[in-house]
Amino acid sequence: HKDLLDITQLSKEDVWHIFETATYFQEINSRPVKKVPTLKGHSVVLFFAEPSTRTKTSFDMAGKRLSCDTFSLAKSSSSLTKGETLKDTALTLEAMNIDGIVIRHWASGAAAFLAERLDCSVINAGDGRHAHPTQALLDGFTLYQEWGALEGKTVLILGDIAHSRVARSNVIMLTMMGAKVRFCAPRTLLPPNIKSWPVEVYSNVNEASKGVDAIMCLRLQLERQQAGLLPDVREYSRYFGLGPKQVELASPNVKILHPGPMNRGVEIDSALADSTSSLVLDQVASGVAVRMALLYLYLTRKK
Ligand code: CP
Repeated sequence: HKDLLDITQLSKEDVWHIFETATYFQEINSRPVKKVPTLKGHSVVLFFAEPSTRTKTSFDMAGKRLSCDTFSLAKSSSSLTKGETLKDTALTLEAMNIDGIVIRHWASGAAAFLAERLDCSVINAGDGRHAHPTQALLDGFTLYQEWGALEGKTVLILGDIAHSRVARSNVIMLTMMGAKVRFCAPRTLLPPNIKSWPVEVYSNVNEASKGVDAIMCLRLQLERQQAGLLPDVREYSRYFGLGPKQVELASPNVKILHPGPMNRGVEIDSALADSTSSLVLDQVASGVAVRMALLYLYLTRKK
């Protein structure tokens, strides 16, 4: 594929190949001098129409460590604010002879819309509530580094699943790699077509946590929820927040993940986020290696 729009475009072998390539780049990231000339002469635009700390910074760092020129464009400083369309913005950037665009956008399908219209690679850095494939790959890579394989493991995804592109992409990646997935959320924060998902659904967080190997907490995406339907945050935290009780019920070596940004004390107990079970910062480190692998694989693909 020219583009990475969703995990559905990848086979299990593709994911293994990305993990192997990321393992190689992880080693480069641990060196005192972290820059290699692999993508010298290539250029990529990081076009973020929604806020981001981790994804944007790690793509920027990944590109720079591979000697790829990276250019950042945010919605607020772009001519989108003057009425220019997404298509014209992208065609303008492509006319500068770039090799790829990494795009984050509030609209589901924005990355696919650009991929159809551009010759350069389009990498989806999160589109609405649809997909966040690079997040799922870095989550999978983090667990792969812990466990060696994902087969036979059970992962609980806990929180606002209805609005989560991270949950959607992770379910596809985790099940493809042989893991079982459980969802736990209030009924109003589950996707409407939940019966078609390959997951076990729980409404009680203690039941959901029993024996799981990893728990992935998700933030309440208040910005995507309709006013009037917002849950009471204190009540939500009491019934669906991750605390020590759920960790006790889980597998003895349970790992805790969170894609970030975290709302400490809401979906996750603050001490747990900092505990030895937490892989939150390992996820961030994996993000740089996985995005180096993706930039390398997509920008140097055979045309
Ligand atoms: N996980 C994630 O996408 O974080 P950012 O929004 O900070 O990029």
